[in-house]
Amino acid sequence: MPKSSNDLLAILGGTPAADKPFEFNNSISDEEKTAVLRVIEKGELSGFIASPGEPFWGGQEVLGLQEEFQTRFSIKHAIAFNSATSALHAAVAATGIGPGDEVVTSPYTMSATATAILMTGAVPIFADIEDTTFGIDPNSVEACLSKNTKGILAVNIFGHAAQLDRLAEIAKQNDLFLLEDNAQAPGALFKGQSTGTIGGAGIFSFNRHKVMQSGEGGVLVTNDDKIAQKAALVRNHGESVVAAMEIDDIVNTVGLNYRMTEMEAAVAREQFRKMDGLNNQRIALANRLTEGLSDIEGLTPPAVTAESSHVYYMYAIRYDEAVIRLPRNLFAKAIEAEGFFLRPGYVKPLYLEPLYQRKICFGPNGFPFTANDRNAEISYAEGICPTCERLQNHELMITPIAQPPQTAQDMDLFVKACKKVIRNKDDLLAGAPNLAE
Ligand SMILES: Cc1ncc(COP(=O)(O)O)c(C=O)c1O
Repeated sequence: MPKSSNDLLAILGGTPAADKPFEFNNSISDEEKTAVLRVIEKGELSGFIASPGEPFWGGQEVLGLQEEFQTRFSIKHAIAFNSATSALHAAVAATGIGPGDEVVTSPYTMSATATAILMTGAVPIFADIEDTTFGIDPNSVEACLSKNTKGILAVNIFGHAAQLDRLAEIAKQNDLFLLEDNAQAPGALFKGQSTGTIGGAGIFSFNRHKVMQSGEGGVLVTNDDKIAQKAALVRNHGESVVAAMEIDDIVNTVGLNYRMTEMEAAVAREQFRKMDGLNNQRIALANRLTEGLSDIEGLTPPAVTAESSHVYYMYAIRYDEAVIRLPRNLFAKAIEAEGFFLRPGYVKPLYLEPLYQRKICFGPNGFPFTANDRNAEISYAEGICPTCERLQNHELMITPIAQPPQTAQDMDLFVKACKKVIRNKDDLLAGAPNLAE
């Protein structure tokens, strides 16, 4: 019997399950408009000057944003930046590390996590990740430690904490710093404590696609006075003020212009006020999706560990090809045709990028890798992080659909689309072998 066009897969010419195109969240509204106007009317679009004195620390909106972070997270210092990338670089630099040093981090993250390490002249050592939280696996971190290790840079990926207690313990036992890249998990909790505030410093992002956005922007939080001071120097041409500010420890205080504008800060303040509400919307949609997917064998919704909450910056699904009997990439392609954004994998494990494969970063001669006396032993070869590679190549799929303006009904339609593709997988395999990669 011929299939109805509703049951014919969209990739084979049927009607898509989604009834409208996917849209990214847009939480910018009247509050942000008023905040920007407040700055425009004042006329001071940036409050920074790279010389000693009050303006070294930024304008009123930047100071306001920092204060609000300090209050909300009960933390001593918050330093605003023009991106989380610059905040990350400043955080790593502020630890005082440099050429010859190593920092253990995740290969399954946005590239800036690892380049923040390279920017100081140190090199990243990639630990494997867990296939539950997708954060770095503490056992693998321990195996990566060497005489040159100075720190651990953990990533709270997709909106869920890494195993921060065990990582903090490893850091403590080995006299290492622990930093948190919390760009994707603002407002998440680990053992009741806010992620980003558990390591020696943590960073947040306000880029366009994050939960909170001001176009671009980042914030570093820390209880450590020295890290806070150095990070502020890196933000604003530190080399030009250390003499006048009588700062003796000038290691890594050479600075850039990482300053946040007043307009960005004004918008970020409004967005930060909305953080819990924005997270709650995503959590509600994600819970609906998890409930719907829970009876589909072969699709595993994101884990939420007993210690953590999840804020679902991204919704990660694990795919079991042996159960579903359809290649993952073909499944994802079919779901895309049904009208949903579903990406097979997240990013190539970072060490597989030419930067690490060829060990070419600054200049043509291999610096900073060559500055490490273990350079010959440090491997970025395929296979060094098998769990990460398995997830990327075979099991993980991510979707950003669990965010407004998508609705609970859209979550149900996504589940319906998954069931439809699985139900009709034989048509897909038989009718369109050329669709597979
Ligand atoms: C985990 C992670 N770290 C760092 C960044 C860099 O953030 P930004 O774009 O604010 O520089 C991102 C942004 O995608 C990210 O996802």
